[in-house]
Amino acid sequence: MLIVEKLSKSYGKNMIFDNLSFNVHPGEIVGLVGENGAGKSTLLSILAMVQKADAGTITLNHQCYQTDKKELRRQIGFVPQDLAIWEQLSVKENMQFFAQLSWVKKDMAELKELCLQMQLEKWDEPVKSLSGGMKRKLNIAISLIHDPHLLLLDEPTAGIDLKSRTEIGRYLKQLASQGKMIIYTSHDMDELRSLCDRVLCIGKDPFYKNIFHESPIPFLAIPD
Ligand SMILES: Nc1ncnc2c1ncn2[C@@H]1O[C@H](COP(=O)(O)OP(=O)(O)OP(=O)(O)O)[C@@H](O)[C@H]1O
Ligand SMILES: [Mg+2]
Repeated sequence: MLIVEKLSKSYGKNMIFDNLSFNVHPGEIVGLVGENGAGKSTLLSILAMVQKADAGTITLNHQCYQTDKKELRRQIGFVPQDLAIWEQLSVKENMQFFAQLSWVKKDMAELKELCLQMQLEKWDEPVKSLSGGMKRKLNIAISLIHDPHLLLLDEPTAGIDLKSRTEIGRYLKQLASQGKMIIYTSHDMDELRSLCDRVLCIGKDPFYKNIFHESPIPFLAIPD
């Protein structure tokens, strides 16, 4: 379980969020929503240990972000908003490269299977020749190489066609059914409704709070 308590983050005088608390249970998909600039990517990067909060505590499966960094990094998979893959290398070479950096040993067949599960069949093609949706799938496959418990996805379906979007959604549900915790950001209301168990709304724009208060998806704690 992920437990976030009283988290605060500012950039200089720009307070992004304050006193933010929420939990995510194993098997849950939580949608993270809010206006552009609300702090969604900031929150995900803190949960991914890419940057630090100013105050508050985070624990994942009883391990604390302040003291158990090394162990925790192995439990977290992160796909940033700006993709982190090598354009010049093929899908296969990207998978090999990131597998070497990973803590677990995966053979070529297992790496390929991860891509196939995402319906990413192009194995030998250079990444620069892939569509945006395929690149997104590759980055998700890379984030899963070390079999993380917590998967953080920053706009995994932005700008992606309906078919790939459906395939990604189906796969996220499958991962959640295996007990993974998933937090992902999206601006697509229909997708959030069909995919998420709960929605966490951050930011200062009351528009989001109003629409989600009226929505059938359970609505998580919101800071003021
Ligand atoms: N490294 C940084 N230094 C200073 N300000 C930053 C930094 N990163 C983000 N910000 C600011 O923090 C706020 C939140 O940014 P963030 O990228 O987390 O928002 P977001 O909700 O992900 O937005 P979007 O929907 O556009 O992706 C914005 O006002 C942004 O300009
Ligand atoms: Mg963002």
